[in-house]
Amino acid sequence: MALPIGVLISGSGSNLQSLIDKIAEGSLDASIKLVVSNKADAYGLERAAKAGIATRVLKHGDYSRREEFDAEMVDALKAAGVKVVVMAGFMRIITSVLLKAFPERVINIHPALLPSFPGVDAQGQACTHGVKIAGCSVHFVDEGMDSGAVIQQAAVPVFSGEDRDALQKRILKMEHRILPQVVQWLSQDRLSISGRQVILKKATVDQIHPDNCLINPPLEAGF
Ligand code: GRF
Repeated sequence: MALPIGVLISGSGSNLQSLIDKIAEGSLDASIKLVVSNKADAYGLERAAKAGIATRVLKHGDYSRREEFDAEMVDALKAAGVKVVVMAGFMRIITSVLLKAFPERVINIHPALLPSFPGVDAQGQACTHGVKIAGCSVHFVDEGMDSGAVIQQAAVPVFSGEDRDALQKRILKMEHRILPQVVQWLSQDRLSISGRQVILKKATVDQIHPDNCLINPPLEAGF
């Protein structure tokens, strides 16, 4: 049975679109029951409407406390039958109200290899720091900022002289791969959590060979 999910957005919604597309092509066994945005002008709301998905705008300014905002969001998500909450570019700190309502069922996509570069503009932080390997992470959400147990990560090499926007585009492409993959694993109930360790049960692809890793800049002949 398709996993009923809710998606929280604040902006463009390209990660939401990746979920919509994977469901449409039959790769992702999920059903998006509700898209919630804290911004009325989020383009992701148009993406949802085009896909016939119910939407709800909850303006955070209408609530004096984060907990009240979250309680309203929980009511809407529960009423829609949501079982898993996917934060996809949702630029709000959530509270224990949401986490208690969906224990171990709130995930987030972050455009950095956590725990590096939590918070806003992770791509810009990576560029400024001069890392050679950036990337993105899908993690369970806890009460910290981008601090929950990591589920899957993609490493994205930084090209010499590449600017932040170019890097963001390449990281975003990988976000669109790993977020739907993680939702599928939740749909198959194949993720177990032990402390900070997230275990994928019945992995179908052999572990990456220990000799295969991403080295950037690439090794040259003889090394
Ligand atoms: C993504 O890069 C996500 O990792 C970050 O905000 C961006 C949202 O993009 N939190 P979109 O709204 O999914 O296009």
